[in-house]
Amino acid sequence: MVDVREGQAWRALEQQAQLLRADLARGYAMRRWFQEDPLRFQNMQLRLGDLLYDPSKQLVTPEVSRLLNALGEERCLGPAMEAMVEGAPINLTEGRAVLHTALRDRRGGPRRVGGQDVMPEVGAVLAQMREFVTALRSGAWRGATGLPIRDVVNIGIGGSDLGPAMATAALRPYWQAGLRVHYVSNVDGAHLQGTLADLSPETTLFIVASKTFTTQETLANAHSARAWLVGALGLEAVARHFVALSTNAKAVSDFGIDVRQMFAFWDWVGGRYSLWSAIGLSVACAIGMDAFEDLLQGAHEADRHALEAPIAANIPAQMALVGVWNRNFLGFPSLAVLPYDQSLHRLPAYLQQADMESNGKATTRDGGKTQWLTGPIVFGEPGTNGQHAFYQLLHQGSDIVPADFILVAHSAFATAPNHPIGDHHELLLSNGLAQTEALMRGKTEAEVMLELRLAGIVGADAAALAPHKIFSGDRPTTTLLMDRLTPHALGRLIAIYEHKIFFQGILWDICSFDQWGVELGKQLAKAIGPELRGAAPGNHDASTSGLIAELRQRRGA
Ligand code: F6P
Repeated sequence: MVDVREGQAWRALEQQAQLLRADLARGYAMRRWFQEDPLRFQNMQLRLGDLLYDPSKQLVTPEVSRLLNALGEERCLGPAMEAMVEGAPINLTEGRAVLHTALRDRRGGPRRVGGQDVMPEVGAVLAQMREFVTALRSGAWRGATGLPIRDVVNIGIGGSDLGPAMATAALRPYWQAGLRVHYVSNVDGAHLQGTLADLSPETTLFIVASKTFTTQETLANAHSARAWLVGALGLEAVARHFVALSTNAKAVSDFGIDVRQMFAFWDWVGGRYSLWSAIGLSVACAIGMDAFEDLLQGAHEADRHALEAPIAANIPAQMALVGVWNRNFLGFPSLAVLPYDQSLHRLPAYLQQADMESNGKATTRDGGKTQWLTGPIVFGEPGTNGQHAFYQLLHQGSDIVPADFILVAHSAFATAPNHPIGDHHELLLSNGLAQTEALMRGKTEAEVMLELRLAGIVGADAAALAPHKIFSGDRPTTTLLMDRLTPHALGRLIAIYEHKIFFQGILWDICSFDQWGVELGKQLAKAIGPELRGAAPGNHDASTSGLIAELRQRRGA
């Protein structure tokens, strides 16, 4: 079995972690580092186009940085990335290639899976998407009663929802006026009903997005949506109001959607990496096909960078290595993703799936048990909302929570006519910067006492209050700063996170591209469903049986 801790770099990093702990015990280490090295920011930053990556507020010394790069070499990050883009079957437990990078490859050369060039198919689906999106947006695609489509409802869940929903929200300034795109994911009927409440069947188009076309939630929502439409317009209307995005033509046809209205993708596209495939159709409806292709172009820029830049200059590799430092050597359990841009409000949810479904595993690639920590708990909220919710814990909690701050220099809304943008964006950015500074600097006891004295609080009162107002500082953050949230910039940002997650899977020797951990709950839910409807009780533990009985009684089953 591979033991990732056996390499020289890992062992040396363990020693560095001990040295760091001693330094942290002296207090306010990062303040000292910035004072001692005025070039720390300049020397640690990396750039890709207008994207600035600043890890200088991480608990990383030059020696730790050197050893992390050595760890990246030892764990063969470069060759691993090459194997992925060459179409090797690196999704070991499902025997599949992992080739989402081909979906955004803009160079025109071949990309092979099992010896076969997949690019002609990729190009054909993009052309099919362009034709459909153009017809829809121009009004040439009409509903069954001859009216143009005003509302598009994407029905999907997980990777068939989070990526498109996140990207559509992020690119709001690019939406076509008069065309609204909605996302329904939860099997809770309230989600579909609430969405349909304001819509007219005559002007609504449903996109049923499901890689497998077997997902319970999506099929339940799709069937109910079809019943809503058929109830109003009749069965023949389905052809003008339903399209499908899937790898499963038979199931699409069984559902009643003509496969000519299916946009295909392939088993080498992982669900949580499928935004770039036909699964992005709803995004393209909202922003147009040209902007969607800009999104692909931005992701491709990140792909080239991840593949070609040496580890020390490779942004996703550096993010992965710093994350491993925080997780495995410093023992920090989580990662906060904090976009200072309201348009990115679904980014934390999207990254939760991308990261936690990929690296929330404790089995090594050869089936052993990992003896080391793996993926962190990812959470977040857009700034400044998070500041008024959980930042108290970030600043003074007993756990250290590393955080990614995402800043955008120019508001996408700044040039919108009549938009009352005022100085909101300066307020937003100043808050983001202030938080990274505060988390790093903290506030010493002496500073607190001085502040209290100036406020007229002295003696026993000051002594009692001071401990509550001290900030330890040394709370690590990375800042990602970009010019504007364009489709290109969004594609680049997302692909950087994808590659970071991939690199971490390699560093931890786990299979990042399967998701067996979601299966057990699905299996059990299938058994419990009939029991709630009145079937004979199954063999459960006392708690589950008791709760089933309680629900049956309350629901009169
Ligand atoms: O949550 C498990 C999962 O398989 C995800 O990986 C996937 O994104 C989601 O379900 C939806 O799957 P599908 O696109 O096949 O409906």
